[in-house]
Amino acid sequence: MYGVDSAVLPEYRSRGVGSKLMDARFAVLKQLNLRGMIAGSLIIDYHKVASEVTPEQYVQDVIDGKRFDTNLTKQLHKGFRVHNIIPNYFNDARTLNYGVGIVWQNPDFDPSRPILRTAKVIPAHFDVRLKPERTPEATFGAVGN
Ligand SMILES: CC(C)(COP(=O)(O)OP(=O)(O)OC[C@H]1O[C@@H](n2cnc3c(N)ncnc32)[C@H](O)[C@@H]1OP(=O)(O)O)[C@@H](O)C(=O)NCCC(=O)NCCS
Repeated sequence: MYGVDSAVLPEYRSRGVGSKLMDARFAVLKQLNLRGMIAGSLIIDYHKVASEVTPEQYVQDVIDGKRFDTNLTKQLHKGFRVHNIIPNYFNDARTLNYGVGIVWQNPDFDPSRPILRTAKVIPAHFDVRLKPERTPEATFGAVGN
């Protein structure tokens, strides 16, 4: 599955909404018995340190938990893994046009079952109560951005 853009309004971020959106995608790909999901992550906090670190170093720091990125940190937290860095991915000053190819592997993928092409879409009800905001500072202490 290819994961196209998803976004949460800034004032509602870090309160569990994006996690539910990602869970909904995982549920569909499990229903389809797909191997996993690939997506392009926009490293939207990179511009803050772009004069100091290369995109490769920035991404490694995010993987190591030394820096917080509004998108990539959360995607890694949900089980995505970095596959590659993509120059000229998307015209965006915040990322200096870099994207990061990320992969989520379906732990339930069963090669003996058929890979379905269409999902029987069952509208999922997700609990939409917002969690308390999770700040980068609470996770990392002083944020390294
Ligand atoms: C990416 C995006 C959709 C995530 O939505 P969100 O509502 O902020 O995400 P959540 O609060 O549900 O967090 C997602 C996961 O990251 C974790 N997380 C949130 N804040 C965190 C932090 N400061 N440190 C570590 N993990 C954190 C959450 O715990 C959650 O995992 P969990 O459900 O297992 O606990 C949102 O940040 C966004 O809209 N970004 C800008 C738009 C964009 O560029 N979208 C395309 C992305 S490539």
